[in-house]
Amino acid sequence: MPKKMHITLKVNGKEEEFLAEPRELLIYTLRERLNITGPHIGCETSHCGACTVTIDGKSVKSCTMFAVQAEGAEITTIEGIGGPDDLHPLQTAFKEHHGLQCGYCTPGMITRATKLLEEIPNPTEEEIRFGMAGNLCRCTGYQNIVKSIQAAAAEMSAAKEAAE
Ligand code: FES
Ligand code: FES
Repeated sequence: MPKKMHITLKVNGKEEEFLAEPRELLIYTLRERLNITGPHIGCETSHCGACTVTIDGKSVKSCTMFAVQAEGAEITTIEGIGGPDDLHPLQTAFKEHHGLQCGYCTPGMITRATKLLEEIPNPTEEEIRFGMAGNLCRCTGYQNIVKSIQAAAAEMSAAKEAAE
């Protein structure tokens, strides 16, 4: 039996502390240990992006990382981005512009898109498609995902201007 390791993480602002085997993947830590089920498991081979979370400011596919590698990190999942009573503009835009169908890819899509809009607040269609290339959707054909991100970008820029 491999020795368990002591791990501390901050997930959506909450400190977490536990013992885990070195082989435990971060996606299972989130979903099964911490009951944070927004990040989904689509492929477990780093292709689909359904498991995307933000770790210390970077988009990461949480099936590609061991929990022990995230020791001391700050992690944000879709649950930390917005909820039913306080939707993030991206969540509102995906809802209004039909950026989802089955919704399986959506937590990863929106989590990745929050970082994309931090990196490029007003992206072109090409920049959106390039920036979202690591996130796959089996349902939407991507057109409405692009539209949703464009709409959120416009909304967020307008809100920023209004606040200045
Ligand atoms: S489940 Fe992680 S990339 Fe598909
Ligand atoms: S909405 Fe179904 S996989 Fe994207």
